[in-house]
Amino acid sequence: MADDVLVDTNDNGEVDEETVNDSSALIPTVVQSDNNKLKIINGVLNLLAHLMIGATVGTAITFCLREGEMNTTKIHIILCVLGYQLLIAESILSLSPDNSWSSSLKFTQKRQAHWILQIVGSGFAITGSFIKILNQSSHWKTLHAKFALVALVFTIASLVNGVTSLFANELRRIIPGSLSKITHIIFGTIAFGAASISLCYGFNKGSFRKWTTPEVAATVIVLTASLTLIIIVNPLITFSNKTVRSLRRRRFM
Ligand code: HEM
Repeated sequence: MADDVLVDTNDNGEVDEETVNDSSALIPTVVQSDNNKLKIINGVLNLLAHLMIGATVGTAITFCLREGEMNTTKIHIILCVLGYQLLIAESILSLSPDNSWSSSLKFTQKRQAHWILQIVGSGFAITGSFIKILNQSSHWKTLHAKFALVALVFTIASLVNGVTSLFANELRRIIPGSLSKITHIIFGTIAFGAASISLCYGFNKGSFRKWTTPEVAATVIVLTASLTLIIIVNPLITFSNKTVRSLRRRRFM
């Protein structure tokens, strides 16, 4: 029987294409048609997320390339927006089962894409944040700055346990693999969420609203909130699945 065949699955329950080439042959028809509707919804949400990333990142960068000299504020915006909203957003999406550009990659290739985007994106975001921090005499006064600090701290924490997750097998005597992975997911999600909130407060600043209009500023804030919700759904599902599995294994549930 086809559905009796044992296959490897990743955290999303997808069949690992490295072990099976035609994974659809192993899934019963009823499940396939249910999955099909979900796949269409996921595909549409994924397309919308990419469009909204393009619109918000594009608007922020156009704002920085407006007339006048390039200053530290503009450089911090370019680096933070490219880091958090483009590269880290794509790094989270790369692991999502129905993400457009990574859906044909094998599971190990998705992981590679994820950590490369994560490292480059975090590098941009951390540099962009420090450029502005070093340029200010007083710190963490505004909500924009406070959420940026939360994003910075959790980005660094998520990078550290991202490395321990990548080498979970080798490090399992020091730290349980599931703990590294669970904390990496939740730290990364908090970092991305906080960066998005900080960006919304950035879009609400007088300089930005004066350059565009209050209506356009409100629109990019709504787009940022929407793309953030779509992007964090998959990691939150993976986080709860992994936590439940890990608690069951330790007989807490
Ligand atoms: C994800 C995007 C962003 C992040 C992570 C970020 C991060 C930061 C950080 C770390 C600071 C220094 C805070 C301090 O030392 O107290 C800062 C300040 C600042 N940022 Fe951003 N920023 C982002 C986007 C923007 C945008 C889009 C704008 C404007 C349109 C902007 C305008 C400012 C201004 C004017 C300050 C100085 C005043 C303040 O602290 O609020 N930022 N930002």
